[in-house]
Amino acid sequence: MSKLVTIYGGSGFVGRYIARRMAKEGWRVRVACRRPNEALFVKPYGAVGQVEPVFCNIRDDASVRAAMAGADAVVNCVGTFDKGGRNNFEAVQVEGAERIARIATEGGVAAMVHISAIGADAEAEADYSRTKADGEAAILATFPNALILRPSVIFGPEDGFFNRFAGMSRMGPILPLVGAETKFQPVYVDDVAQAAVLGILGKASGTFELGGPDAGTLRHFVEEMLGVIHRRRLVLNMPFWKARIMAALLDFGSILTGGLVTNKILTRDQVKSLKVDNTVAADAKGLADLGITATPISAVVPDYLWRFRPSGQYDAIKASARNLKHGG
Ligand SMILES: NC(=O)c1ccc[n+]([C@@H]2O[C@H](COP(=O)([O-])OP(=O)(O)OC[C@H]3O[C@@H](n4cnc5c(N)ncnc54)[C@H](OP(=O)(O)O)[C@@H]3O)[C@@H](O)[C@H]2O)c1
Repeated sequence: MSKLVTIYGGSGFVGRYIARRMAKEGWRVRVACRRPNEALFVKPYGAVGQVEPVFCNIRDDASVRAAMAGADAVVNCVGTFDKGGRNNFEAVQVEGAERIARIATEGGVAAMVHISAIGADAEAEADYSRTKADGEAAILATFPNALILRPSVIFGPEDGFFNRFAGMSRMGPILPLVGAETKFQPVYVDDVAQAAVLGILGKASGTFELGGPDAGTLRHFVEEMLGVIHRRRLVLNMPFWKARIMAALLDFGSILTGGLVTNKILTRDQVKSLKVDNTVAADAKGLADLGITATPISAVVPDYLWRFRPSGQYDAIKASARNLKHGG
């Protein structure tokens, strides 16, 4: 029987790349998430029955245990930006992470990989970063050999970074940014997946910070993205005090609807995170230490951002037609 990995959050942006790579390694893959019916797209990553989405809520012991039955390795890709709902920072990023590690230890699972984030810090102002640190500590207390990956912002076809700013650029001539001068080091999603695979196969453990080959300000990356989508916009930095007021109003809107509408635009906690640089620390182990060559943004981003160009996939044809007209 081939080996089995359970990937909690395996239907998410990062999890699906890990699932795909593990299927290629010949493992059986169990994708554990709350809406397996919306995760059927993972099935063709492998042969019939090799990759299976199953129901699981990492806030519940029995659910985590059931999804882990027979697993040789586990991966935790579940995270949240939600402070107030049931799937909140403490419940998911601390208790959920601890639960997976504890049940994996009880069940004698050989390897565990956990996706944390750069900036994880028990003293951080932002709850997101603080709970990431608490989650890491809880995991290491029960599963000391776990591989902890701390990526900077992650890019790839389904990302919430370049796609988001590219989408915003269609709304008008001005592109307002919160934390325009904060530094990031975007890392390619499949490089993160490659690192996770090493942990699943028992070839790596410890804590690694993952960043791509390019580090720069948010403004720099947004301007680079604007070049890719052939749009000119005025990139403006929104002061943090203004962003805080806007985020407070958006958070309040979510409270008013009793959590029915979640604030996915900008939360107060995100404003706090955006004040802190998000780059690999000088003394941290990184992708190179895992033997992985980081993929540059320019190698990937044009392949999925073309749809934001003024004429989408016809942009190049239109440009060439214009040249002909002017030439003739
Ligand atoms: N994306 C980035 O730029 C980035 C950067 C740094 C760190 N990270 C970290 O990397 C990890 C993966 O991020 P991502 O972008 O792939 O997230 P994502 O796309 O939002 O995926 C989250 C996954 O978790 C599942 N999930 C959520 N709550 C759950 C629960 N209570 N029980 C079981 N499954 C649950 C979701 O499926 P259902 O909704 O169906 O349950 C989904 O499969 C997170 O820990 C995140 O903090 C991400």
